[in-house]
Amino acid sequence: MEPRKKRPNKQQDNSLVKNVAEEEKVQAQPEKQKKKKVFITETALRDAHQSIMATRMRTKDMLPVAELMDEVGYHSLEVWGGATFDACMRFLDEDPWQRLRELRKRFKKTKLQMLLRGQNLVGYRHYADDAVREFVKRAVGNGLDIIRVFDALNDLRNMEVAADQIKKEGCHLQMCISYTISPVHSLDSFAKLSQEMKNMGADSICIKDMAGLLSPVDAANLVRAIKEKTSLPVQVHCHYTSGMASMAYFAAIEAGADVVDCAISPLSMGTSQPATEAIVAALKGSEMDTGIELTKLVPIAEHFKKVKEENRSLVMGIEGVDVNVLIYQIPGGMYSNLVSQLKEQNALEKLHDVLEEVPKVRKEMGYPPLVTPTSQLVGTQATLNVLTGNRWKVVPKEVKNYFLGFYGRPPGKMDEEIKKIVIGEDEPIKGRPGEILEPELEKAREVMEPWIVEPEDVLSYVLFPAVAKDFLVRKYARETKRDVGLQEAIENVAYPV
Ligand code: CO
Repeated sequence: MEPRKKRPNKQQDNSLVKNVAEEEKVQAQPEKQKKKKVFITETALRDAHQSIMATRMRTKDMLPVAELMDEVGYHSLEVWGGATFDACMRFLDEDPWQRLRELRKRFKKTKLQMLLRGQNLVGYRHYADDAVREFVKRAVGNGLDIIRVFDALNDLRNMEVAADQIKKEGCHLQMCISYTISPVHSLDSFAKLSQEMKNMGADSICIKDMAGLLSPVDAANLVRAIKEKTSLPVQVHCHYTSGMASMAYFAAIEAGADVVDCAISPLSMGTSQPATEAIVAALKGSEMDTGIELTKLVPIAEHFKKVKEENRSLVMGIEGVDVNVLIYQIPGGMYSNLVSQLKEQNALEKLHDVLEEVPKVRKEMGYPPLVTPTSQLVGTQATLNVLTGNRWKVVPKEVKNYFLGFYGRPPGKMDEEIKKIVIGEDEPIKGRPGEILEPELEKAREVMEPWIVEPEDVLSYVLFPAVAKDFLVRKYARETKRDVGLQEAIENVAYPV
């Protein structure tokens, strides 16, 4: 809890005691409200549609209500990062940088924030330090105010370069605890982690409950523990999958949480966040009032309801409560990935076996929190173990890399026998995974030089070579009519994918 501010000196004139007392009440009230006011980050433009609409919201679905959203009084809007960068180019034929600029133009009052996967940036592998620094620079330069950084393993070494650059850019550094439950995670271990984040320069701490595992009691204890250790603002990010998220928010807020992540109602609940309107209404009139007027949210909700209806075929989030989350600790996206992987293999009847296999694989891998990319690693391995009928017989390269330490240090010990099966005679790396990667920007720049129109293009290319190649060909063919030369040249690009 923040220390209370000193009240103004009382007047000494006794005849005014009553009036002063009245006046104090009036003055004290707003002061108290100000101190305990709860703020909301709206996730409609990033996590919410990533969670329930396959990340397919287009920029043109966002812009019509941007000005209205700017008037609401949100703490911030999450608009970028996560899977949106990839999805923009891969599915929507959109430039993610352009989206950010368009949003920035319209959000004049509200802070914009993104989710950054530490050394993974917005991709699925580790990138070299030079790419991490350049990405952060450009992200801030294009309009972000807050960058939330996490690492799937809570390995701070994977966040340190990004964190350092975020601070250098003068941007708000929010460091994120990937919350999970396991025999190697505890209140103390998370509190210690938050202290280390503060030492790294964190301006605030986010509890990221990607799977919806955070119970109200744990939420309150965790917020208190982090506050005690760090005195930093605490933001809570939950997914609704298990049905506990709004209870967790309330408990967290009572324990002193400063900001909670919510999604406007049509894009809320299920695998997404609690509904903004419900949280605003729940806190209305209390000392924790968000200060947001419900009526301002109505046209925004109506707009996104239409967007959701237009994209009905893409809406795939789990509706209602999914107890599998509580039993198997699987985040929203992972469950649907498992289902579609099994469908592709015509083996949907094995779903239960795969769900049973996930915790075993997770234990053998040292209890990683399940979030991109570890959720994919554990999910894919569990599926392979079940489908081949022979555990750890077939191991993808990415899983082997995990055992070799390329993803970072797992929270618990990896199973030594399994590790031996997976890596054989290969030696695991010792240091920070990012430091063994050769700088990659210069090479990409050389290769792409004649066709780079904006410096951001290089980053898109480094992040997703194949997808960005296709995208840039289409984009600049449209814009410059240089399609033939560009296509030819890009096809000759000898850049590792
Ligand atoms: Co999320």
